[in-house]
Amino acid sequence: MKDAKPQTVYLNDYQAPEYLVDRTELTFDLDPQSTLVKSHLKIRRNPVAADSGGRSLPPLWLDGVDLELLSIAEDGELLPAQRYQEEPGGLSLTVTKPEFELEIQTRIAPESNTSLEGLYLSNGMYCTQCEAEGFRKITFYPDRPDVMSVFTTTIVAPAKYPVLLSNGNKVDSGTTDDGRLRVTWEDPFAKPSYLFALVAGDLQYVEDSFTTSTGRAVTLQLFTEARNIGKCEHAMVSLKHAMRWDEVVYGREYDLDIFMIVAVDHFNMGAMENKGLNIFNSACVLASPETATDAAFQRIESIVAHEYFHNWSGNRVTCRDWFQLSLKEGFTVFRDAEFSADMNSRAVKRIEDVTLLRTAQFAEDAGPMSHPVRPDSYMEISNFYTLTIYEKGAEIVRMIHTILGADAFRRGSDLYFQRHDGCAVTCEDFVVAMEDANGADLKQFRRWYSQAGTPIIEVEDEYDAERAQYSLTLRQRTPATPGQEEKLPLHIPVAIGLLGADGKALVLDKFGSTDTVLHLTEESQTFTFQDIDERPLPSLLRGFSAPVKLRYGYTGEQLQFLMQHDADAFNRWDACQRLALNTLSSLQGQYRAGETLDTPSALIDGFSVLLQNSELDPALVAKMLALPSAQELAEQGDEIDAAAIVAARDFARQSIAVALKPLFLARYQALDQRKPYRPTADDIARRGLKNTCLAYLCMTQDQDALALARTQFERDENMTDVSAALAAMVEYGPKDAAEQTLESFYRQWQQDTQVVETWFGLQSSSAGFGTLDRVRELMAHPAFEMKNPNKVRAVVGGFAMRNFNQFHHEDGSGYEFLADQVIALDKLNPQIASRLVTPLTRWKKYRKHEAGQIHSALKRISDSGELSADLYEMVSKSLA
Ligand code: PHE
Ligand code: ZN
Repeated sequence: MKDAKPQTVYLNDYQAPEYLVDRTELTFDLDPQSTLVKSHLKIRRNPVAADSGGRSLPPLWLDGVDLELLSIAEDGELLPAQRYQEEPGGLSLTVTKPEFELEIQTRIAPESNTSLEGLYLSNGMYCTQCEAEGFRKITFYPDRPDVMSVFTTTIVAPAKYPVLLSNGNKVDSGTTDDGRLRVTWEDPFAKPSYLFALVAGDLQYVEDSFTTSTGRAVTLQLFTEARNIGKCEHAMVSLKHAMRWDEVVYGREYDLDIFMIVAVDHFNMGAMENKGLNIFNSACVLASPETATDAAFQRIESIVAHEYFHNWSGNRVTCRDWFQLSLKEGFTVFRDAEFSADMNSRAVKRIEDVTLLRTAQFAEDAGPMSHPVRPDSYMEISNFYTLTIYEKGAEIVRMIHTILGADAFRRGSDLYFQRHDGCAVTCEDFVVAMEDANGADLKQFRRWYSQAGTPIIEVEDEYDAERAQYSLTLRQRTPATPGQEEKLPLHIPVAIGLLGADGKALVLDKFGSTDTVLHLTEESQTFTFQDIDERPLPSLLRGFSAPVKLRYGYTGEQLQFLMQHDADAFNRWDACQRLALNTLSSLQGQYRAGETLDTPSALIDGFSVLLQNSELDPALVAKMLALPSAQELAEQGDEIDAAAIVAARDFARQSIAVALKPLFLARYQALDQRKPYRPTADDIARRGLKNTCLAYLCMTQDQDALALARTQFERDENMTDVSAALAAMVEYGPKDAAEQTLESFYRQWQQDTQVVETWFGLQSSSAGFGTLDRVRELMAHPAFEMKNPNKVRAVVGGFAMRNFNQFHHEDGSGYEFLADQVIALDKLNPQIASRLVTPLTRWKKYRKHEAGQIHSALKRISDSGELSADLYEMVSKSLA
């Protein structure tokens, strides 16, 4: 049973399923090479699909990939061969009655499954991944989210797998006659096959409990291999916070008696929200102060919450079809972002999310894979777990929240959950619930779901002193994207405020408001404010109220003024970013023209003020001191000149480091308090600024600075400080010393998978250290594993996605290397191959020389033989 040839699927072709599956009973007899799967399905004609005319019953289609069909019976009788037909991608069955039961036996080989989709082995433990279309690699089934069924799962396994898990509640367990273990699980909530999960292994667990708002006790269990049992606490605490938060903020209570999380080392994504049995990439759940950085602690908190929140936004109310993926992902990302904002610093969380959006989502939306948040078509759905679906989708939900207000948004979400509980629905249903609950009109707003591309807003202003009137004129346009030449004006909420010359907020209306939301709905619109007694400085798009590029001709002085006085913390940071972007773009121009580069005095002055102000939130200061990444600069410009970007950035950072060394040092010393590690917002902020200062200090390459890094490294207090010191030594210190330090670090941590991943990533993404030769050495290292996505992401991804300097080596060797890895990976794991090819897909944006090199690398992939559907879609769309 091979997969079907890549074909395009269209939203417009959606049809309700012909048949429904009321009950699904599965029995797994586990074996690495020969797992037997018995499925017993109670099937009935879908009344919604049933034609009123007396047509005969249409065939039943069951998806199936890489399965060996052993037998198939209907209502207890083996089906004769003429009743069914095996085809690429599945099985077609002739139907003779509107209700019947099927019993299907298949054989699969989890050990040979390197795609990590379906049932596979990770370090000897069985686990599943079924979203989006992995269940068809387990058994023949209508593997689509609008077929929802009640599942009962029996697992039979040898005694060396004492832990046998599936969705729902454990209803039976025992041993078979031949001494194997048998456990049965029943999930009372009807669900689509993509939420099915099974785990079997020799696992330990930590247990806790949570009492829900109505007083029900829920058992919480987190399963890992024995060696990781000490790394579960933070995830457990995060889970309990998330459960409480969802009750308080959304009125959502957990519904089963048990909630389980399992950590696995081999996983394509971050984590998966299977009903009652979330499965996590171990890097996204396991942490201890000694082994995990602050960033990891925060990532874990948000992903644990994200998966938990899916229990309502995703599982209780799920997607009708995969075009609606953002229905659950956009909403859930918005929910987890608000949760993290409530748990930590709201402004910092927003800055991090916006940085990701501007860097990577904007680039995606300007490239060959650009697609609307609700796509019209796809070849391989795995390619659509994108920043657009997730992050831009979350921005759409955030805009609805901004437009309606918090209370109205909550009314809308209550209605949405109430109306659609137990159903598979669409993005449209979500918007309608928001409208109906509030009598609101989101007609034009809907275009955000169907129109791709990043809108650009140009702003001009005018002050009329005589009339005391100030007006802002906003013009919007969205550049064409593949398959969408014409763009319509969107409903864009633009939050703003006005600053007076003393930095105070001006009053905007008769109610005394000092901020407001402009509703831009036309191509061009002017908004006028009365009784404005002085020419104000506008603070625009506060909190990044819409995912757009906003242009306004701020001067350097105005940006410095906003950096200090804007009431909106996000916009203070953004002013600093704009200042840095302007500076870096003129430095790039000077570099290209062969001129000497100007000292970035405006930035140096601005940073100097920041470093001396101990009143400001250190986390915010750290964010302001971080220059935009090379990737972000690449997205900003019209044509990417990799060498100019690297030169401009290096020069600016170097100049800042040298000019402000005493300030960096003073701040470093003040912040270097030796306290026991705690992952609290305050402590994370302190360490963040401290390590930003350390990096700048080490950029000077001065002995005393590097000695600080060494001392911090040797103190070995927590992984945040240790890895920051190590990164600084590797990037800026002498090579021999770096080699030795890396070596001893590896010896200390070689047993710890997560730390080894950090160790790989730190080297491959280092601008100075992570040469292609080094990357090849890392791939030959015994701890590297091509079949483990985390290792591939750390080494190959670190190099191709986070090492702008080495990856874009002028000889094109980086591109050729990536092409080789993509070709090799496609045979093992198409999803990973397809994600890794991303940097090559943007070839059109580079200068002619690099564009040619990247194009030929892509072409070589395309000509390398038969590609997976995943990779084929990416490569063919990029070459088109
Ligand atoms: N649905 C998962 C999430 O976002 C992501 C995922 C998709 C995981 C596909 C695995 C496979 O929470
Ligand atoms: Zn999700």
